[in-house]
Amino acid sequence: MRYLVTGGGGFIGSNTVDELVRRGHSVTVLDDLSAGNEANLATVREQITFIRGTITDREIIEKACRGADYVLHLAARTSVPRSVKQPLETNQINVDGTLNVLIAARDAGVRRVVFASSSSIYGDTPTLPKHEGMPPAPISPYGVSKLVGELYGRVFHRTYGLDFVALRYFNVFGPRQDPGSPYSGVLSRFITAMRDGGQPSIFGDGEQSRDFTFVQNVVTANLQACETPGIGGRAFNLGTGGRYTLNYTLQLLEGFAGRPAKAKYGPQREGDIRDSQADISLAAQAFGYQPQINFEDGLRRTWDWYCSQR
Ligand code: UD1
Repeated sequence: MRYLVTGGGGFIGSNTVDELVRRGHSVTVLDDLSAGNEANLATVREQITFIRGTITDREIIEKACRGADYVLHLAARTSVPRSVKQPLETNQINVDGTLNVLIAARDAGVRRVVFASSSSIYGDTPTLPKHEGMPPAPISPYGVSKLVGELYGRVFHRTYGLDFVALRYFNVFGPRQDPGSPYSGVLSRFITAMRDGGQPSIFGDGEQSRDFTFVQNVVTANLQACETPGIGGRAFNLGTGGRYTLNYTLQLLEGFAGRPAKAKYGPQREGDIRDSQADISLAAQAFGYQPQINFEDGLRRTWDWYCSQR
């Protein structure tokens, strides 16, 4: 099969591309390398087609979609606080860009678009775990942008018959997550701080919790969501089903590093939700999703990977 992976040079994208190549699929990557990195594709570079460009460029996305059976649409601005600072830019990439991808996929006659949505569409609800029947109520521009992407996808499904599946990722972590910016995912920042003898920063009291999900689980689900017939037009949670506080993750990392974290506590971040946990039963039922790697094992593997990159 022929796959187009938007954002395929990024963290989740490049891990997904590796698996597609391993399974013998033909892969095109579209990435503007704003967050992604060509080094992420080093081992598969000769086996894929790489197009450097952005999803906000209609011509490029049209070209990239041509001949594709499946589009895995992962290109996005991924940071909640960055969206609070730059709502327009987040909207241009996550909303306008997604609309471009949907139009191009429709016109190219692709079999299905699988869209990287987010648990952030649920907002700060007290109900846990979060299930797909709950009304979306995002509290950040980022959450809004992901919800709008889902809504557009569903409308394209109904109106134009474009097959579309949204996967609501819950805090994905693992090898290749870029720790280099204040907007980077928390575990990549904690791990590299602990590795390099620094002090992790905690925004808030550290008792906020997330359903941290190891990237390999998401890679498997991405492929299942492409291949499983009859699930078009729907949205599914992708998490581990657990809930881990930042303080707990630091305790585990202290064990790996063999030293105290001496974390610095600061003010809570704007746009942050307090707790997050996925009900993953719908994805299990619809396409057989089962997280293969639990949080603790995933964290250990991720720690080992960052240590090997020093
Ligand atoms: C993350 C993803 C987002 C995704 C969502 C749900 C990133 C950058 N964001 O958002 O794309 O849609 O999960 O899957 O991957 N924190 C600290 N110290 C730090 C960094 C963060 O205490 O150095 C705190 C934050 O304030 C927040 C928590 O850690 O309370 C998680 O933050 P972050 O990793 O940015 O993820 P989310 O905002 O949950």
